[in-house]
This record gives sequence, C-alpha cells and structure tokens, in this order.
Amino acid sequence: MEEKKTIVVFGATGSQGGGLANAILDEKNSEFSVRAVTRDPSSDKAKALSDSGADIVEADINNYEDIRKALKGAYGAYFVTFFWDHFSPEKELKQVKDMAKAAKEEKLKHVIWSTLEDTRMWVPLHSDQIPTLQQKYKVPHFDAKGEANQFFIAESVPVTFMHASFYWDNMIHFGLGPQRDNNNNLAISFPMGDKKMAGISADDIGKCAYGIFKKGNRMIAKTVGIAGDQLTCREMVAMMSDKIGEEIIYNELTPDQFRNLGFQGADDLGNMFQFYRDFDDACNTTRDVAFSKELNPELKSFSMWLDKYAAEIPIERETSKVR
Ligand SMILES: NC(=O)c1ccc[n+]([C@@H]2O[C@H](COP(=O)([O-])OP(=O)(O)OC[C@H]3O[C@@H](n4cnc5c(N)ncnc54)[C@H](OP(=O)(O)O)[C@@H]3O)[C@@H](O)[C@H]2O)c1
Repeated sequence: MEEKKTIVVFGATGSQGGGLANAILDEKNSEFSVRAVTRDPSSDKAKALSDSGADIVEADINNYEDIRKALKGAYGAYFVTFFWDHFSPEKELKQVKDMAKAAKEEKLKHVIWSTLEDTRMWVPLHSDQIPTLQQKYKVPHFDAKGEANQFFIAESVPVTFMHASFYWDNMIHFGLGPQRDNNNNLAISFPMGDKKMAGISADDIGKCAYGIFKKGNRMIAKTVGIAGDQLTCREMVAMMSDKIGEEIIYNELTPDQFRNLGFQGADDLGNMFQFYRDFDDACNTTRDVAFSKELNPELKSFSMWLDKYAAEIPIERETSKVR
C-alpha cells in the first residue's frame, strides 16, 4: 500500500485547522494523513482528533524548533496564525518567518498559508482614508499576514496563498450577532454601507484547503480567496429575519462609529470593514464563490449556514416594549 502524504495542520483544534483535519480524517481513502499541532495534547479536542486517526504533535508557533520538529518528514503543512490571542502584528510576522524557514529546511512539497490582504497596498500609510493603527498598519490583523507572504517567496517554498472571508460564525462566537437597540429591535451594526461582503461558514475553510491540497502542484504560487456567499448587510438581515422569526434591522454605522465601539480590537475591525466596503470589487473578486465550490462541493451559502447554525446565534430575549 502506498504511504499517505502527511499534512501538518497548525491550529488543528481551532476553526480553520480543525476543518482541514476533519475533512482529511473523514475521507477513508484519502491520499493524506493528518499530523495535528496543538500546545496541549491532553485537551479534549486533541484527544478527539487522535481518536479519529490523527497523529498529535505538541508545538508552539512562537518556537522555531517546535515548528521544525512538527514538520519533520511531512509532505505539506497548513499554516495559520492567531492574531486575536495577542493583537500583535509583529508576533505574527516572526511566527510566519519561522514557518517559512522551517518549511524550506524540511523540504515540504506543498504549503498553504492562510493569509489576508496587506491593505497598505490599497491605502498607503500616509493616506487618511483609513486611520493608521499601531504606527505602521491600516488593518493590523490583515497587513502583517499579507506582509508575511514575502517570507515564503524568499525561501522558495511551494506555497498557495489562501484568503479566508469573514466568518459568519463571528455572530455566534465573536460578539458580532444581532443586539437589541434602545427600541427593543434586533439589529446588526456594521459599517458596510450597501456593499457586498464575502463571508463563509468557518467549518468550510478547511474543506476548501483540502481541495487545494488535492489539486496539488497546479495550486502552487497561486492566490486563492474562498467564500460561501457575497451579500449586503440588508440581504443578510432579510434572510436572518426569516430563519430566526423576528425582524432584524441593519443599523448602518460609519466606520468611525464602529471603531469607537469600545471593545478591544474595534478599531482594527472598523478599519477592516471599511477596507471591505471601500475596496469591495477587489475583495470580492479575490474571494471567488464558484471556485470555492469547486474546491469544496459541500460549501455552504449563507442560507445553508443559517439552516445549520441560526439556533446557536445568541439572541437577547425581547423585553416588554416601552409604549
Ligand atoms: N474570524 C474571522 O472572520 C476571520 C476571517 C479571516 C481570517 N481570520 C484569521 O483566522 C485566524 C484564527 O484562526 P482560527 O479562527 O482557526 O483560530 P481559532 O479557532 O481561535 O483556533 C486557534 C487554535 O490555534 C492554536 N494556537 C493558538 N496559539 C497557538 C500557538 N502559540 N502555538 C500553536 N498553536 C496555537 C490553539 O490550539 P491549542 O490550544 O490546541 O494549542 C487553538 O485551538 C486569525 O489570525 C484571524 O485573523 C479570521
């Protein structure tokens, strides 16, 4: 029997990596096997992956030697970083530099780097269209990822650059779901104007990545954006209202209003929405729904995502209306 090609999956206990690990493990005759990276092999999620047939490797992406050991003898790797754990673009840059260097040292055949746009290519730092954050960035959690692409190029790593979209699951896990306003109405409050934003079900990201690994060499040196739908906020609230059974309003904010919402990272996310809004053509052209479906035939549209997950969106109960 031919030996399976090992894919080292970073973030395997999380959304992106978990989707990829499970997509491979769920396919009995896959040409690939999974080496799942975690900092804690004794966690329930790591144990579940092991029970499903993954090898588990302990590694911290802040440690070069850990990354290198995790990659030993493997065919490929899925690299993702975790900005919201630390809010530091510099940390991400160092982590990705080490990933690229280790991938080169270990002679990997195919790497997927989960990157995003360096928005400073559209909005130079000196422009006041979008405020500068942390002295050097427009959208910190995008820019460092885009800037880090160069490390793979410099090391001549066979890489596919993959851009994910806004996870609809942010409405469940990231506090971005509908909130009650002062009139007791449910509203989502984004600064997207009437522009369409690409979105995706988080569990589809890894399945698309699996499609990229299956296509193999043809995907090397390519940039691929993945999305399940491209919708305006008005279209989204109309569909959500139907599924949830209560009207949800689109409360259109300005980017400044969003940046000033007062939670950590609101400025970064406000800038991100403004980038998606002001450069909607570029963002939506990169994130091709038809190609994503080719990579992952089970890809969910927003309506399909709602069918599966609407019940998990935390909805504050209506209190009696003040008349
Ligand atoms: N939310 C969105 O809409 C969106 C859209 C596009 C891109 N992104 C990007 O997606 C990235 C996050 O990916 P995700 O959503 O898959 O993350 P996630 O679900 O939060 O999972 C993170 C996993 O990574 C592991 N991890 C964290 N720090 C680590 C470290 N130092 N070393 C090794 N492993 C570590 C953790 O595993 P263990 O605890 O098992 O070690 C954890 O399970 C962010 O950088 C974000 O910018 C997000």
